[in-house]
Amino acid sequence: MANPERRPLRVIQWSTGNAGKNAVRGIVRHPDLELVGLHAHAKEKQGKDAAELCGLSRPTGVRATDDVDALLALDADSVCYMAQGETRIRETIDDLTRILRSGKNVVNTSLVSLCYPAFSPKLRDALQKACEEGGTTFFTSGFDPGWSGDVIPLALASTCERVDSIRVTECMDYSTYEDPGFTGVFFGYGRPLDYDAPLLRTGMLKGGWGCMVLMLADALGVSLDEIREEHERLPAPETFETRMGKIEKGTCAGVRFEVQGIVDGKPALVAAHVNRLRQDIGPGWERLSGKRHSGYKIAVVGSPSLYCEIEPVGADGDHNTAGILGTAMRVINAIPTVCAHAPGVVSTLDLPIFTARGIAGRVR
Ligand SMILES: NC(=O)c1ccc[n+]([C@@H]2O[C@H](COP(=O)([O-])OP(=O)(O)OC[C@H]3O[C@@H](n4cnc5c(N)ncnc54)[C@H](OP(=O)(O)O)[C@@H]3O)[C@@H](O)[C@H]2O)c1
Repeated sequence: MANPERRPLRVIQWSTGNAGKNAVRGIVRHPDLELVGLHAHAKEKQGKDAAELCGLSRPTGVRATDDVDALLALDADSVCYMAQGETRIRETIDDLTRILRSGKNVVNTSLVSLCYPAFSPKLRDALQKACEEGGTTFFTSGFDPGWSGDVIPLALASTCERVDSIRVTECMDYSTYEDPGFTGVFFGYGRPLDYDAPLLRTGMLKGGWGCMVLMLADALGVSLDEIREEHERLPAPETFETRMGKIEKGTCAGVRFEVQGIVDGKPALVAAHVNRLRQDIGPGWERLSGKRHSGYKIAVVGSPSLYCEIEPVGADGDHNTAGILGTAMRVINAIPTVCAHAPGVVSTLDLPIFTARGIAGRVR
């Protein structure tokens, strides 16, 4: 069983993908956490030390395995789950419920709609039952959906006497996003403009970002008439290279979308994305002010109105590096709070404020 009083808290990391690699490093470097197990799906990763898989200089002694029974038999307080969720919904819920029933709390980035579990009642109910059986707590977050569209706008709105609308826009250049297999295919980058991009099928945008809109509505005590979605794609003006691969002239090089919470017939709570592969694509599309390149714009309109821009920058100077690290650390920094919480499925609205306790100014 989880022991929230214990320090360091013992953590099993599930997956070593983009977010998972950052999580392993974050756990190993965190003074209040200890890496005790590592799940990897890929055959070639089996038996390898976490350090080798995740770019740490010193071996951790923790070796990757796909033996779920062995991992769940470990004495651990929490699992940090970051396996690909959107392409394997049923398997992800099976994994998560099994882990929760085994007595291990879970912090999670997969299946992004779980950032606000009330948005997906069937999935929430299955997870809640597993939490009750295991006496465990389940929390999902990330950068966007997640942090950019929940704690940040809600913190801003806490100074208002009236809120008319909230708009959160991710303005990110994805050309340095090293994920052609998922993000590239899902958004349809480098494909013809009429390619049936999975993300842009009816209901998918709402499925991904509607959770953010509903969380804001519930937090503000607002009833939504409906949640609408819209999108637009733009072609590459010429062929160019990105870390996602070669983008041929005329294929998709920009995706803009909005998920709109409608109140009194108007979009009042909006989660928007403007994702270019080059800054000259979509000159009329929303962007950050001044020389800022990529990040988040948050507009809370009311009394007072508040406008905020956030520019994430990784150690290598890149915004996508920062976004993935931020996604991983948002849930890792939540582990002590989640382990101390009463059992059940929780969201940001249920947890006390947590921050980067124990890791301020520490360099290793
Ligand atoms: N809210 C946010 O801001 C945010 C941001 C980024 C990502 N996410 C979410 O977090 C999750 C992970 O994202 P990511 O960028 O790290 O993805 P990723 O780089 O594609 O990594 C996913 C990992 O899942 C594991 N995996 C793949 N197929 C599997 C299978 N059949 N069974 C079990 N494991 C499998 C693989 O790792 P191993 O071989 O090492 O197991 C793979 O590397 C996704 O669901 C994504 O949507 C959320």
